[in-house]
Amino acid sequence: MPVEQGYWRYVEGVAAQVCRLYGYQRIDTPIFEETSLFARSVGESTDIVEKEMYSFQDRGGGGLTLRPEGTAAICRAYLEHGMHNLPQPVRLHYLGPIFRYERPQAGRYRQHQQLGCEAIGEQDAAVDVEIVNLAWRFLHRLGLGNLVLYLNSVGCPRCRPGYLVVLKDHYEPHLASLCPECRTRFHRNPLRLLDCKKDSCQPVADGAPPMLDYLCDSCAPHFQVVREGLEMLGIPFQSNHRLVRGLDYYTKTVFEIQPGGGGAQSTIAGGGRYDGLIEELGGRPTPGVGFATGIERIILNLKSQGVALPNPHASPIFVAYLGEAARRDALKLLEDLRQGGIAAVSAFGDRSLKAQLRQANALGVSHTLILGEEELKTGTVLLRTMAQGKQERVPREAVLSVAREGSLPLRGD
Ligand code: HAM
Repeated sequence: MPVEQGYWRYVEGVAAQVCRLYGYQRIDTPIFEETSLFARSVGESTDIVEKEMYSFQDRGGGGLTLRPEGTAAICRAYLEHGMHNLPQPVRLHYLGPIFRYERPQAGRYRQHQQLGCEAIGEQDAAVDVEIVNLAWRFLHRLGLGNLVLYLNSVGCPRCRPGYLVVLKDHYEPHLASLCPECRTRFHRNPLRLLDCKKDSCQPVADGAPPMLDYLCDSCAPHFQVVREGLEMLGIPFQSNHRLVRGLDYYTKTVFEIQPGGGGAQSTIAGGGRYDGLIEELGGRPTPGVGFATGIERIILNLKSQGVALPNPHASPIFVAYLGEAARRDALKLLEDLRQGGIAAVSAFGDRSLKAQLRQANALGVSHTLILGEEELKTGTVLLRTMAQGKQERVPREAVLSVAREGSLPLRGD
């Protein structure tokens, strides 16, 4: 809705800025893909594939699905476009609609918008740290606070099977007391037992042996490096042995960021490593790590935390001139301002200064820069604060830096 647009543009703008700072280039993939892509990558026995996909047949009889997440599509694009030939890791970000047939409620929609970042082609745990850091900094740069980062490792095909045996041994004596879903998970996807939210299953899940105790000699040091990296960057985290995520492709690191205080649909961002995914999709063994965040949930939190948005329509600065020479010079000043990232407009034609100031007032600008003969001679401008009608002479070079430092409400971005 129009009243929401300010939040959307703000979040998208900060996302683009932060992704640029960390070197994550934008990629756009189609809204729908072949159904088999998601079934293979997200996992046949996940909620997403079993219950939540919008799948249909097209006129050619092919099975298509509105994308229920972004990572599989990015990996498909990585393979299809030979991105293994690029310097690794390939750092990508995307922003677009995601579709899941879930029960709609606050913070959970059948169509939502995700920002995701993926770093593909590097197994160093430093990339996991980079991804968690990026997610954490992005949310903080937006102005969100009171966030909790949960961290875990779900191991790899070498150590997870052994852990699942131990996990099932722990659950087996309690099968009768578990919820019907957990009884199914016990057979089909035992790791997901740890994710159950039903009261009746909490004691068994809380008492389960932690995966961290069963990590192999590849996963254990990897997790240690991630922890150390986050500590070095001053990012606080909580180890959570029940964090397993709802998609099957994860290996090693998994993480989620939630607002302090929690809540059912509260996870703002989640992600992890997926070292087997590209191979599963037919490529060479290629590691990857990434995260995604739901923009609607970010906005809910911006609102509940009362984060004030910078005015997206900050009024431009108005440039007024007196005399022909100043008029020509004003064109240059206008362009200097715009090149410096400051929105600027001017009057046209031979209007009197009074008429130009009237126009500036009508546009609702907060400041006007006035150029006249005296200003041209001395390399200055008159800075007029419209509300008070106060004028001060400032060196011309200073205008841009003053505006850029934000001491004047002149910035347009
Ligand atoms: P996910 O945890 O399923 O992960 O979704 C990421 C984020 O999308 C969630 O943390 C949440 O903010 C938002 N979200 C999910 N479902 C909904 C919904 N129904 N309504 C509103 N917001 C929602 C993934 O999709 C993985 N692809 C993340 C990833 C990227 N892992 C590695 N790379």
